[in-house]
Amino acid sequence: MARLILPVNSNLEKLCSNALAEIKAAASGDDLKNLRIRYLGRKGALTALLRTMGDMSAEERPAFGKRANEVKSELEDAISRRETTLAAQGAGERAEKPLDVTLPGLRPRSGSIHPLMQVLNRMIEIFTSMGYEVAVGPEVEFDKYNFSLLNFPDNHPARDMQDTFFISRTGTAGSAPTDMLLRTHTSPVQIRAMEKRKPPMRVISPGKVYRHDRDASHSPMFFQLEGFIVDKTVSLADLKGTLTAFVREFFGKGARLRFRPSFFPFTEPSAEVDISCMICGGAGCRMCKQTGWLEILGSGMIHPQVLRNVGINPEEWTGFAFGMGVERISILKYGVEPIATFLENDLRFLKQF
Ligand code: DAH
Repeated sequence: MARLILPVNSNLEKLCSNALAEIKAAASGDDLKNLRIRYLGRKGALTALLRTMGDMSAEERPAFGKRANEVKSELEDAISRRETTLAAQGAGERAEKPLDVTLPGLRPRSGSIHPLMQVLNRMIEIFTSMGYEVAVGPEVEFDKYNFSLLNFPDNHPARDMQDTFFISRTGTAGSAPTDMLLRTHTSPVQIRAMEKRKPPMRVISPGKVYRHDRDASHSPMFFQLEGFIVDKTVSLADLKGTLTAFVREFFGKGARLRFRPSFFPFTEPSAEVDISCMICGGAGCRMCKQTGWLEILGSGMIHPQVLRNVGINPEEWTGFAFGMGVERISILKYGVEPIATFLENDLRFLKQF
C-alpha cells in the first residue's frame, strides 16, 4: 500500500492556521489568554509538536525547528494585535454609551455614635432633665481624692475592693508608689465638685475608670456614671425616688427596683440596687443567673465624714450618691455579653446600633 507522505511540517502548518483563525475570532482578553495557553503554553500544542522532533531524521529537524520558531512568533504577534483591537473596541463602546445620570449614586459611608456613648448620652440626658449638672475629673488621680477624702482609711481592706493601678515614681526603681493612681471609680469627682461648689448642688460625672481586672464581665478600663445631690433634708426616699425615675425612663415603665443593704466607705447607709431582669421579666434566665434580678449600681446617703472632709457641715446639709457602670447598663439594655464586645470595635457588631 502506498504511504501518503505529508510534508514534514504539515502538522505545524495546520496548527498555525487553526490558531490564527481562533485568534481572529477571539472576543475577549480572556479568550486570548486561553488561546495563548492552549497553543504556546508549556503544555500547549506547539510544545507537544516540538517534542516529536526526536523522531525526525537529521535532515528534517533543522527546517522543522526553524519553522516552529517562526510559527511561535507569528502567533505571538497575532495575539497581541488582536488584544490591541479588542481594547480599542471596548473603549469605543464605552465612550458611545451615554452616562445615565438617573442611576443611583454611590452612598457615602457614614459613621455613627458608639453604642456605649449612645447609652451614656441617654443617661446624661435623663439626669440633666432632672436638674443635674455635668462635671468631669482627671483619670490620673491623687490617692486622697480616690480614697482618703472618700473616707477610705489608710491601709483599710476596703481599698482592696478596687484593684488599683498605682503610678510609680519614675527614676527611683523599687521605691514605694507615689500617691498617684488611675482612678478606680468616678466617686473622686464628688470631692472635686464639692470643693468647688456651694450647696445645694446636683451633679453627675461620666468618665473612664481603671481596675486591674479582666474577664467576661470585667475590662481594665470601663465607664462609670456618678451622681450625687447635697441639699437640706435629703432622705433615702429621695434616693429611691430618683433612681426609680431614672430606671423607668431608661429601661421602660415596667422595670422594678430592689434595694439591698451594702457597704461603701463614703456612704452610710449604703445600698446596692437591682432591677428586675428585662430579658426574662423576672422568671429567671442565664442573664440574671436564674435570680430574676440584675445588679446595676451602688448608692447610699453621703457619709457625714465625707461632707466634713470638704468643709460642708453635715448638721446642716445632707446628700445621697450613686455610681453605675455604663458597660453593665449597656449589656443589660441590649442583652449582649461579654463586656469586650462593646470595647473591641468590631464594625459588624457596631453597625447594628
Ligand atoms: N464608687 C463605687 C464603685 O465604683 C460605686 C458607688 C457606690 C458610687 C456608692 C457611689 C455610691 O456614689 O454612693 O464601686
